[in-house]
Amino acid sequence: MSNTILKAKDISIAFGGLKAVTDFNLELKSDELLGLIGPNGAGKTTVFNILTGVYKPTSGEYEFNGRKINGEKPYKLVQYGMARTFQNIRLFENMTVLDNVVVANNFNMKYGYLAGTFRLPRYWREEKEAREKAMELLEIFDLAKYANYMAGNLPYGRQRKLEIARALSTGAKVLFLDEPAAGMNPKETEELMDTIKLIKEKFGIAIVLIEHDMKLVLGICERLIVLDRGNIIAQGDPMEVVNKKEVITAYLGSDDEEEGDE
Ligand SMILES: Nc1ncnc2c1ncn2[C@@H]1O[C@H](COP(=O)(O)OP(=O)(O)OP(=O)(O)O)[C@@H](O)[C@H]1O
Ligand SMILES: [Mg+2]
Repeated sequence: MSNTILKAKDISIAFGGLKAVTDFNLELKSDELLGLIGPNGAGKTTVFNILTGVYKPTSGEYEFNGRKINGEKPYKLVQYGMARTFQNIRLFENMTVLDNVVVANNFNMKYGYLAGTFRLPRYWREEKEAREKAMELLEIFDLAKYANYMAGNLPYGRQRKLEIARALSTGAKVLFLDEPAAGMNPKETEELMDTIKLIKEKFGIAIVLIEHDMKLVLGICERLIVLDRGNIIAQGDPMEVVNKKEVITAYLGSDDEEEGDE
């Protein structure tokens, strides 16, 4: 049942002289919860940016659901079933919680320009369905009671949740979370852990998690890949991986802050 949903082969990217990622390989199972960890500047976000079509790698191949996706644009990849959240929250702060989800989903609606402009029945039907679907998602994330709040007024932890709900509204098969716990207090982090577990149970999708919070990582990840200076230095069972000498050295040897959240 759990086939490979995402495959990356020898992906590399350089910015000027800097090799940000070198020969990154990945086989992600369709229902796997994978952690991508490593010190600041290791290349984690860059890997996400490549896999979600933001950056074009210097070399390497990757495929999603059996389809080659080299050079595909981000919006295409969203349509195929890739969704992500960002290291820095990106919400429409002056829109309601509900509209934040509906807008993301609008993208998948089938009514054309004419139906939308003239508000034809089809437009209203799809609009209504989209709002119902969005409410269901908010319900799952315990955000339904805030549906009409301005997104920017939600406490930080709930904004993060909303961002995840919005990402899922596009019908994701793989969800990329970039440091979702950054800036959260311990209680919010605890809740986030439950939210991620819930997503896994409820949606049965693959999740790739970049995170510095080791309690969160070890609490939910089934497998880890550790990056250091653009190279995979270890991977496998989470507890085994974090106890490896090279992984400990990579973290201790980093001059940067451990809990980076820029
Ligand atoms: N667009 C870019 N142009 C130039 N250099 C970049 C660009 N994006 C990333 N880099 C560099 O690539 C390296 C990897 O950055 P990346 O953001 O992927 O690290 P990270 O593992 O996500 O770190 P953090 O934990 O701090 O978020 C860094 O040295 C960074 O400065
Ligand atoms: Mg990053």
